[in-house]
Amino acid sequence: MPTLNVALGERQYPIHIGSGLLGRADLVAAELPTPRVAIVSNEVVAPLYLARWTGALQAAGIRITEVVLPDGESSKNWETLNRIFDALLADRCDRATTLMALGGGVVGDLAGFAAATYQRGIPFIQVPTTLLAQVDSSVGGKTGINHPRGKNMIGAFWQPRMVLADTDTLNTLPDRELSAGMAEVIKYGLIRDLPFLEWLEDNMGRLMARDPEALSFAIERSCANKAEVVAGDERETAKEGGRALLNLGHTFGHAIETGVGYGEWLHGEAVAAGTVMAAELSRRLGWLAKSDVDRVRDLLARAALPVIGAPLGAARYLDLMGHDKKVVAGRLRLVLLKRLGEACTYADAPPDAVRAAIEGCCA
Ligand code: NAD
Ligand code: GLY
Repeated sequence: MPTLNVALGERQYPIHIGSGLLGRADLVAAELPTPRVAIVSNEVVAPLYLARWTGALQAAGIRITEVVLPDGESSKNWETLNRIFDALLADRCDRATTLMALGGGVVGDLAGFAAATYQRGIPFIQVPTTLLAQVDSSVGGKTGINHPRGKNMIGAFWQPRMVLADTDTLNTLPDRELSAGMAEVIKYGLIRDLPFLEWLEDNMGRLMARDPEALSFAIERSCANKAEVVAGDERETAKEGGRALLNLGHTFGHAIETGVGYGEWLHGEAVAAGTVMAAELSRRLGWLAKSDVDRVRDLLARAALPVIGAPLGAARYLDLMGHDKKVVAGRLRLVLLKRLGEACTYADAPPDAVRAAIEGCCA
């Protein structure tokens, strides 16, 4: 079982990756302040994995409160968040209770925000069950909910005490969700890890066929990249580069998600189309060759991801992108590619070039 470390000083924590981890209550028990856990899951994941995980924890003497939420991006809101608080209060969960997220990124972001704010903050553990959550959202402490005007607009940084990624859970993941996670895997190669990008180009067939060895390698390498970036710029405050680079394709992608309505496009799908737009804009700035953009598009397409954006119109994209968290003093800071394997943040892209990149990548 590979174990990585997110090096955040006193708040450092392990990422355990492997098969059969949902039986390993021992890994968790040692980290709990008291043997009391509230597990937040959803109506899709709970029937698959909650009983198994609860059984293992109870056998280790841990008392459990279960919170089962509705499924989907459209439930990443105040109403659903309140359901977590209602359940914690109803079961008299105290400040030493550990909140645990069992599910994908939606459950992880909601449960993490609840952990950050319940009684001013309680311990939190991530048990991610989607590829996207195992390679990205469970690591790094970004938590929160959506607002009708913008994705992830309300939230908090709250690091988990541990990430437990059981790769067996991916066996039940629908193909479309596997692809969505692959968008974030490809992101690491594009922004900072050219050898990994080349490995992905050579192994995308194995990954899409769910070869366990290839998937484990991709998850481990993605988490190693994410852990390094987060350790270097935990709160995304670096003036240049830093954690913001993890948002390649996201500013365009968030505009798609918000513009078409939460849950219509999966987050990873929107990121994929947004990544093509970012690559195309990088080409227009003279940093990438056309053949580089073709490589980006081909790899995403081989992961069965959309490479053409939603037809919102460039004006609507620009309006929605103006709400992005990377807007500072009215200037939009985009994540672009200096070359394949090296990203940068850039606030000086000419509006006409941004508009042309969007229009060139939409139906
Ligand atoms: P998701 O949580 O909606 O999960 C996708 C679907 O798969 C859901 O229907 C879910 O119920 C189901 N599912 C989960 N595990 C399953 C399993 N093992 N078998 C079968 N079905 C399963 O979506 P996601 O792609 O995991 O996460 C997307 C969310 O993550 C977005 O809200 C995005 O904003 C957020 N995100 C957060 C961060 C961060 O750093 N916090 C990073 C990237 C994305
Ligand atoms: N997914 C972007 C980040 O964690 O910063």
